Amino acid sequence: MVDSPILITGGAGFIGSHLADALLARGHAVRVLDNLSTGKRSNLALTNPRLELIEGDVADAALVARAMSGCKAVAHLAAVASVQASVDDPVATHQSNFIGTLNVCEAMREHGVKRVIFASSAAVYGQNGEGMAIDEDTPKAPLTPYAADKLASEHYLDFYRRQHGLEPAVFRFFNIFGPRQDPSSPYSGVISIFTERAQAGLPITVFGDGEQTRDFVYVGDLVQVLVQALEADWLEAGPVNVGLNRATSLKQLLTAIGEVLGEMPTVNYAEARAGDIRHSRANNARLLLRYEFPVATPLREGVARLMGR
Ligand code: NAD
Ligand code: UD1
Repeated sequence: MVDSPILITGGAGFIGSHLADALLARGHAVRVLDNLSTGKRSNLALTNPRLELIEGDVADAALVARAMSGCKAVAHLAAVASVQASVDDPVATHQSNFIGTLNVCEAMREHGVKRVIFASSAAVYGQNGEGMAIDEDTPKAPLTPYAADKLASEHYLDFYRRQHGLEPAVFRFFNIFGPRQDPSSPYSGVISIFTERAQAGLPITVFGDGEQTRDFVYVGDLVQVLVQALEADWLEAGPVNVGLNRATSLKQLLTAIGEVLGEMPTVNYAEARAGDIRHSRANNARLLLRYEFPVATPLREGVARLMGR
């Protein structure tokens, strides 16, 4: 019998490629649809005959429908993940970040595929709940085209759930980090930027006083949850925050990097970024209720793996 693959849109990217590895290791066949805009072939185990890469765009409805054919489930992760890119070019990023979702929903309907994981973001809360553990019912305040596209995607997935029986598992990721996260833009994840610069012996710039906090989740821990959502017999509706309910300041992050390197990196302090959120932390009660969350990888260990130590 031919094994039905799980489709991962954005599967050549940071989070998607770790999910692909985990699914292959669990015996699933995997089909990746990715336009390789930020994703890389080298992130994928392409010599594995159970992995297929389709190079193309989620904004292309016909291609998404072809990629969906014969799949048993979908992880929809493809998006322009840079918030700044969405501010600079809302029209172009909308094609990936919203139209892509709609195309996935339609293709699922056409091919009778039910289960879909969606990578939403803590960005949907904007600055609401700042300084508190943000739960899923916190009022939404999408402040950028990126956040608006994520929230609209959530609503459309819920429409397809009610109307067409789709089984969406919507996850609002807080700050995910780990190997393969692209450090190349100033708006890349802070851990990828800091570790890359520290390893190259370059100075690190902290925007603000370094006391701002984030809820950092190691990618391997996130992926274990995504796998459960893909394999579960039944899913409860409603979005799920993915965070540890743990606040780590940038200063604590720098200390962890210094410990792994054996010396403290050189740090410059600059003006805080306009609109920067000071404290972001997830109430993760729903995550812990619905999924078996692994013992969280400690920040220092995750940083060490990222730095290949
Ligand atoms: P990433 O840039 O490494 O992955 C995104 C992937 O999607 C890339 O491989 C890229 O080539 C692909 N892609 C982009 N536009 C596409 C298109 N139009 N058609 C086909 N493929 C396309 O970023 P990531 O951090 O792995 O993000 C994965 C998902 O998680 C994204 O939806 C992102 O918005 C979401 N997310 C990430 C974080 C985080 O902390 N990394 C936080 C919240 C949400
Ligand atoms: C993250 C997401 C963003 C989302 C937001 C919602 C990433 C890359 N960004 O932004 O998509 O809208 O959560 O909560 O996941 N910093 C420095 N120096 C640097 C880079 C960053 O000091 O070189 C600081 C930033 O000013 C910020 C903190 O580090 O205070 C974290 O930055 P970043 O990793 O970009 O994540 P968020 O701002 O949380």
